[in-house]
Amino acid sequence: IVTSFQPNLLVGKSVLITAGPTFEPIDPVRGITNLSSGKMGYAIARAAREAGADVTLVSGPTALDAPYGVHRIGVQTAEQMHDVVMSRIAAQHVFIAVAAVADWRVKNASAQKIKKDADGKSPTLEFEENADILAAVAALDKPPYCVGFAAESENLIEFGEAKRKKKNIPLLVGNIGPQTFGRDDNELMLFDEKGHLPLPHADKQTLARQLIAEIAQRLPD
Ligand code: CTP
Ligand code: CA
Repeated sequence: IVTSFQPNLLVGKSVLITAGPTFEPIDPVRGITNLSSGKMGYAIARAAREAGADVTLVSGPTALDAPYGVHRIGVQTAEQMHDVVMSRIAAQHVFIAVAAVADWRVKNASAQKIKKDADGKSPTLEFEENADILAAVAALDKPPYCVGFAAESENLIEFGEAKRKKKNIPLLVGNIGPQTFGRDDNELMLFDEKGHLPLPHADKQTLARQLIAEIAQRLPD
């Protein structure tokens, strides 16, 4: 574990980060989202910038300010996040997928606000799967160094290793602990081809700096 933060670790590198939740519309005034606050992704963007990288942050709706010196692009849906990422990925050295991307979008979203039915009948939502952004980036001809996140509720080590392999990425970060969403602290477990490495409980900015140092160490020259 690299405990002290070294600046300039990522000078000359471009880093693209996704963060926050996505929002999938049901109609013009309603939608489906999740409890991601964006705090971990924003802390990583800040740490990457501190390390000298050129940082782009593709963010779903959050209450956070863009970190100083970071180029933020706001999106709502998983599809928009996918399109923005894919249009900018070619120039990147590192891709860090921190966003809690909706796995499904509403297939029968309504262009008009859905009105209550006179007979009291409830609307039925149909879903279709969203593209997996991280998998799409990892499958590119010349992918950047890809880092994924996972929040597993059980069997973290087994599921973490399996998810890293399934996504075909060199580094996967597991959120440990009960409920990380919205909190200022966290506890992480890194999975790479050599095994797993814990980053013990700390505030998210400290963990973000440690993660950036771990990523910098693993980049090809
Ligand atoms: N991810 C992504 N695009 C998606 C879904 C997930 O880029 N459509 C990324 C997340 O940002 C995260 C990683 O994939 O870095 C793992 O997300 P997770 O939800 O844990 O995995 P899934 O593959 O969606 O599997 P499941 O939710 O069924 O566990
Ligand atoms: Ca998922």
